[in-house]
Formats: sequence, structure tokens, C-alpha cells
Amino acid sequence: MLLIKDASEIFLPDGVQKNASVLIEEGRIKKIGKNIDGADEIIDARGKTVLPGFVDCHTHAIFAGSREFELEMKLNGKTYEYIAEHGGGIKYTVKKTREASSQQLFSESKKRLDRMLECGTTTAEVKSGYGLDLESEVKILRVAGELGKKHEIDVIPTFLGAHAVPPEIDKDEYVDTVIDEMIPIVADEKLARFCDVFCEKGYFTIDDSRRILRAGKEYGLIPKIHADEFTYCMGTELAAELNAISADHLLMASDEGIRKMANAGVTAVLLPAVPFSLMGDRYAPARKMISMGANVALATDLNPNCWTENMQFVIQLACFKMGMTPREAINGATINAARAIGMESEIGSIKEGKKADLLVVDAPSHTFVPYHFGVNLVEKVIKNGKVI
Ligand code: NIG
Ligand code: FE
Repeated sequence: MLLIKDASEIFLPDGVQKNASVLIEEGRIKKIGKNIDGADEIIDARGKTVLPGFVDCHTHAIFAGSREFELEMKLNGKTYEYIAEHGGGIKYTVKKTREASSQQLFSESKKRLDRMLECGTTTAEVKSGYGLDLESEVKILRVAGELGKKHEIDVIPTFLGAHAVPPEIDKDEYVDTVIDEMIPIVADEKLARFCDVFCEKGYFTIDDSRRILRAGKEYGLIPKIHADEFTYCMGTELAAELNAISADHLLMASDEGIRKMANAGVTAVLLPAVPFSLMGDRYAPARKMISMGANVALATDLNPNCWTENMQFVIQLACFKMGMTPREAINGATINAARAIGMESEIGSIKEGKKADLLVVDAPSHTFVPYHFGVNLVEKVIKNGKVI
């Protein structure tokens, strides 16, 4: 038994417990309270805060290469769209990822997962989408599976064949390939739990997205959607219509879309590191979503355009750029994010019986996590009850 002893604060789903301890047995949270004894291993948590492990519910962590050359273009005022049409963007990474062996892809991606874990992420959703042909998409999802087996982080794979149209084929033909060839194989081989689409001008239309997500659903892949990021395409409305588990990005979502999404119980996954990396001044309307009763989650979107492994940074951006409170942001990075991947009964909060995925952070209270920004405050990661 492991005891995290006398923490200055324990972050619970709807409050905090001060000067208390958490007892862990067989990988699960056994007890939360004061004056607990009888453990064989003790972590002295005086002056520290205990948080649930972060759930990064939207990442594209498996890719090859990097795109630092885009920074110069961004500094010259170039948009995401312009960069994508001038040698950068998804297509550049697709080329590198196709060329990479599984081994190379594994080792490049593992490095990112190592860093995520150091920064407190204990569960990560990971999307395919830099392959864009059957063989390469399967390669990415197999690497995700392999990482899930070998890495301490639990990896939850999502099929995002519809991330962009590959150069060798036209769009309608590609949509048919995704539906007729890729989805059946991904589902049969159990390579992914979710199916996602980049519903956006120049990528996939609302009708393409509906067809793809419906096809995925028929094969048991739960829908997710990159919705209303740069342009308003009614992706948020589609998420509600299809009962998607989440709708992600949402900078341009309509009030009506947000209302429908909230009513349908679709989690809003906000990714504030994306507008940050694109040097934009517009962020998703988190306050409006919260006031409309939406379940608001946070994630990194880790990808070559937006390269951060650190959920603490995302929490900080959520507070400073979207007006979320420290509590809302930490819940967004934990329990609400767990809902975005259907794992809220197992992870995402400190509760007796739940999996012991916990963080000891060098902060006297949870408010310190966004307050003391730009450093890694995570001192100890406990995964499945074991200190990493
Ligand atoms: O989620 N929106 C689409 N895809 C990624 C960006 C991918 C890339 O630029 O490589 C995203 O932001
Ligand atoms: Fe994304």
C-alpha cells in the first residue's frame, strides 16, 4: 500500500480537501482522508497538491519530422492555409511519416510520450492522420498500439484517415476509400476506438464528415470531429446530430451549435495551444460554453504545428486566454477530458475505487498550477498506483 501523506490540498471533482492523504492499494484509490496509517510506502506531500493525472484527450502524437521552418512564415504573417499551400502543413508531415519506418515512428513518438508523462499526462488519446493511405494509416495505428503496450501512458487510438486529402487522389475518391476500405479494416483489426474527421473548408465538407462518421459508427467506431475551427461549417451541429462523444476546436461554433452540443451531451474539447501557436487572438468561447451547460475539456492537440506535450501549459492558456477558472481548467484537463474519451468511470478524478493515476505537484493549492506558469510543477507521477 502506498500513502500520499498530508498534502496541503487534494483536488476533488467538486472541492478540495486540505491537509489530507490518499491511500492506494492494488493500483486503485482506497481511501481519502486524515490520519490514515498502515502503508508500507509513504510519499511526504506536505506543502504539495495532489491532482488526478492529466488526460490529454486530443493529440496527433504519432508523426515523423518537424516543421520549425513554419515559424518564420508565421512571423511573416502567413496563415495556416498559406503555409499548407507553400510546402508546409499536414502534407509535409504526411510525406515524412510515410517515409518513416515503424521503428523510427515509434522512437520519435515515444520521446513525446516520455515528455507527456513527465509533465503529468497519464492517459492520452492519439490520432492517426499523417498516413492518408491504408498502409500508412495502419502503420501509425499499430505504432499507437505498440506504444500503448510498452509505455506507462495509456494510449487510446483514434482513426483520423480524413485528416486531409492526399496528393495522389481526388477528394471524393478518397472519401470512398476511407469509408469502403479503411474503416472496415481499422474496425476489424480493432486498431482504433474512435473515428474523427477534419471538417473544414479545403478539407472535408459537412456531408463528407457525416458520411464518414456514420460509416465509422456502423463499424463501432465512436464519432469525434474537428469542428468549426477556422470557418463555420456547422460541425458542432453535426456532432450533436450524430451523438459524437466530442467536438473539438470550436473557435467559430455558433450559439445554436453550442446549445445543441450541450443538450446532446457532446463534450467540447478546447485546444488553446493551437491559436497560441498560430499567433491568433481568437480563442474558443469557453465561458459561453460553460454558461450554456457544455462539458468543457482541454487538450494539447500535440502535432507538428502545435508542439507541446505539457497539459499544464494548456491549463495556463485556458485561464489566461479563455477566462476559465483554475478549477474549471483542471477539471477540463482531467475528468471532463476523460468524458471526451468515454473513460470517466475509471480515471479523471480522485475518488475511492478509481484508478490511482495521480500527480504530486509542487504547488500549495490547485490555483498555483495556472498561477506559476511556464515550468513543470509535476514532482511525482503515480500511474496505476506505482510511482514512476
Ligand atoms: O488538429 N486541424 C487539423 N489538424 C491538426 C493540425 C495538423 C497539422 O498542421 O499538422 C489540428 O490542429
Ligand atoms: Fe487536432
